[in-house]
Amino acid sequence: ALDPAARELLRELILCDEVDSTNGQLLLRMEEGCGHGVAMFAERQTAGRGRRGRTWVSPFSGGINLSIGWQFNGGVQLLEGLSLAVGVALARALAEFEVPDIRLKWPNDVWCRERKLAGVLLELSGDLTDRCAVVVGIGLNVGLRGDSAAAIDQPWIDLQSVRAGIDRNRLAASMLNHLLPLLRDYPECGFGAYREAWLALDQFAGRPVRLQSANQAWTGTAVGVDMSGALILEADGEHKLFHGGEVSLREA
Ligand code: ATP
Ligand code: BTN
Repeated sequence: ALDPAARELLRELILCDEVDSTNGQLLLRMEEGCGHGVAMFAERQTAGRGRRGRTWVSPFSGGINLSIGWQFNGGVQLLEGLSLAVGVALARALAEFEVPDIRLKWPNDVWCRERKLAGVLLELSGDLTDRCAVVVGIGLNVGLRGDSAAAIDQPWIDLQSVRAGIDRNRLAASMLNHLLPLLRDYPECGFGAYREAWLALDQFAGRPVRLQSANQAWTGTAVGVDMSGALILEADGEHKLFHGGEVSLREA
């Protein structure tokens, strides 16, 4: 069940059977100016999306495909680190159901046992200088197997194989209980309020990694994130900062 605080923040809840992309649908609503405080869940997506044109495989029933529309009074700089903070909120929701071995992979994944369990996709809409509208998209695997999974080109994992019998509706409610207050408070508290929690769950802390941009690659050791959520890469005794959106991180 929703907490009173989440209930107050949630203006509309939309439950769909099948859509192309819940993020796409909510972005349209944000553009029409009526998406603030709206959450949309879809049983299946025919064109679920990840970052930079990639696909989020979600044509099967049972997964959690959630988007939340939110409007901030202020510029896009308010959202720095938000995708990492969303990861912390998801980890907290999963902890309520005693899901073991949850880790966060910079900048936008939830991992479990060295595999990807969930992804976060933030998409922006409208005027980014004054009033900033964002759609927070979350895809979490529940019941993914067989044919669908063949399309995924990296190690993935399903919630049922980690902890069976979790009530999906209760988990979905818990996600909203954590995410809606986060969105309300984020302009005030920023990533600083989530950094320690993020670092405690860092999948790649102290590990050799490779960062790849469109036309360049860097290798080194991942040594955490700074106060803005930028990844810190240590190479040749120096620290270099990377911001989400520019690069992909892989084990070296
Ligand atoms: P990065 O975020 O570091 O750039 P990423 O590979 O996680 O890398 P994203 O765009 O965040 O890239 O996520 C999309 C990717 O997630 C897809 O290219 C695919 O590898 C993977 N993926 C797609 N569907 C699923 C799924 N259901 N479960 C796990 N992983 C998936
Ligand atoms: C990623 O790892 O790149 C992010 C995947 C985000 C998937 C979710 S599922 C709900 C929402 N709708 C989409 O089309 N994408 C996000």
